[in-house]
Amino acid sequence: MPATPRRPVIAGNWKMFKTQADTRSFFAAFLPLVAAADHCEIVIAPPFTALAAAVDAARGSRVAIAAQNLHWEPQGAFTGEIAAPMLVEAGCRAVLIGHSERRQFFGETDATVAQKLAAALAAGLQPIVCVGESLEAREQGRTDEILRSQFAGAFAALTAREFSPILLAYEPVWAIGTGRTATPQLAAEAHRFLRAQAESRFGREAAAALRILYGGSVKPGNISGLMAEEEIDGALVGGASLDPASFAAIVKYREG
Ligand code: PGA
Repeated sequence: MPATPRRPVIAGNWKMFKTQADTRSFFAAFLPLVAAADHCEIVIAPPFTALAAAVDAARGSRVAIAAQNLHWEPQGAFTGEIAAPMLVEAGCRAVLIGHSERRQFFGETDATVAQKLAAALAAGLQPIVCVGESLEAREQGRTDEILRSQFAGAFAALTAREFSPILLAYEPVWAIGTGRTATPQLAAEAHRFLRAQAESRFGREAAAALRILYGGSVKPGNISGLMAEEEIDGALVGGASLDPASFAAIVKYREG
């Protein structure tokens, strides 16, 4: 058993899907389905334009709203960007940082991940930091090397105390949106490796308390197997978080 009990987190990443109207319909259908589910924390990350609608719809529920990205400066001449204090004002409690799609398509690096992380922490937002290896790296046997350098790149500047609110998401790039989920054993192995990185950097207690979510083609049909692994503390769900019934079934993985 882990030294510190870790409360599971089921998070949905809507990516560039859903208008404000879609968001309102989603919450109207979703909230009643999960009203009795108190075994885990629930997070939903809508696009920026739907944040206000989501915060409004989720008010009074246990669902926390997260943003999918932020800029590292608190304000400035950065056209098209959004700052952490703006997200806080909009009602966000958390923010995704370093999602592989941002690393792949928008030039996000370990250095910008570290800068964004510092900005999120300074504003009191809970960071959900994503790491994960590409298919090529896994096939070349470089998974550990990639995870080690992403972990070090993101967290090198932090103290154990600053590290403590962070959620880590292990998302192998080859499993995202591909329907190819990592087996629970393979995901658990990567989580163990990441927890060991946390232990060597921040100590045993911080590592035992760290919650690591798995992401990559999580569906109602595979969530229970993943959550059965002691190392897996939750899930970051893309495609299957868009439908209220499917995301509710994932939240209620214990009943599956
Ligand atoms: P997916 O996406 O569940 O659609 O594979 C996961 C993610 O990108 O967070």
